[in-house]
Amino acid sequence: MKILQPSPENIVSTARAIQSGRVVVIPTETVYGLACHALDSRAVQHVFEIKGRPPDNPLIVHIGSFDQLVDITEVVPPAAKALASRFWPGPLTLVLPKRPTVPYCTTGGLDTVAVRVPRHPVALAVIKESGCPVAAPSANLFTRLSPTSAHEIDPAILCQVDMVLDGGQCEIGLESTVLDLTSDEPIVLRPGAVTRADIQAVLGRPLGSGPPSSVRKSPGQYARHYAPRAQVKLVDRVPVGQPGLTLDRPADERQIRMPADPAAYAANLYRSLQRLDETGTEDIFVELPPRDPEWEAVHDRLKKASTWA
Ligand code: TXA
Ligand code: MG
Repeated sequence: MKILQPSPENIVSTARAIQSGRVVVIPTETVYGLACHALDSRAVQHVFEIKGRPPDNPLIVHIGSFDQLVDITEVVPPAAKALASRFWPGPLTLVLPKRPTVPYCTTGGLDTVAVRVPRHPVALAVIKESGCPVAAPSANLFTRLSPTSAHEIDPAILCQVDMVLDGGQCEIGLESTVLDLTSDEPIVLRPGAVTRADIQAVLGRPLGSGPPSSVRKSPGQYARHYAPRAQVKLVDRVPVGQPGLTLDRPADERQIRMPADPAAYAANLYRSLQRLDETGTEDIFVELPPRDPEWEAVHDRLKKASTWA
């Protein structure tokens, strides 16, 4: 069995596997990551192959502490310092100019690199033990739902990795906020648990209103993403007799009542979609949550999950 408890011995062997160019799965506080040595081009290419991910869609590099940032990025602007000291370790990814040591296959051919310090203790322990920056996209097949627990990992991923560390259910459940700090104005490329308001409060100035000026700056912005096999349909009310996610009392046993709080909703979203998907249903109806800013990341993922094509 490749799914291992995160004992000190298993953390050490996972770190050794990363050092020697293997691909493993580690838990983070957002979603599980398909992890490898970020500076090892062959290992990184293997990650792209396992996911079936287009090579121009760059990976996030995970480091163990803010001090490691200077090894990865050419400059550390004051905004990065301020945001890191407020949100790291945590679910905020910063896009900065890359150092030449970071291979282009990790950054999808870009001169920038996306970096974060995760706060899951197992992720931090593995990264620190490995002593290297760790590239880790979400541990899902391209366009599918990201796993938020070890048993949600697709068998097609499981059979291609060396080992999986079981870190329990992810606290956040949606991928990190991605913030581009390489333009005149900071731009949110992907909303997440760290909200625009959180970022603005630290920077003391408004964020740029995306989309970013060039498409190349915002790779990986595919319309359909984070999707189950079934067609997700966004509705005001889940029809009686149909499977779906409700905000109110479910009228059917195949309906799952979601929490009214955005963080708790996010933490349960992917696993709830996956549970309904496993029933083999053709459609999953999802009641639209409120439009308030703290729901932005949930709306983003629901929109992408419901886009067909
Ligand atoms: O929460 C997360 O961020 C998870 C966990 C495992 O850390 N990782 C994750 O990675 O979601 P991934 O590869 O599934 O998503 C990375 C996102 C993509 O949308 C990608 O386009 C963007 O980050 N990205 C990476 N490098 C970038 C860069 N240099 N410029 C702009 N966007 C970048
Ligand atoms: Mg992903």
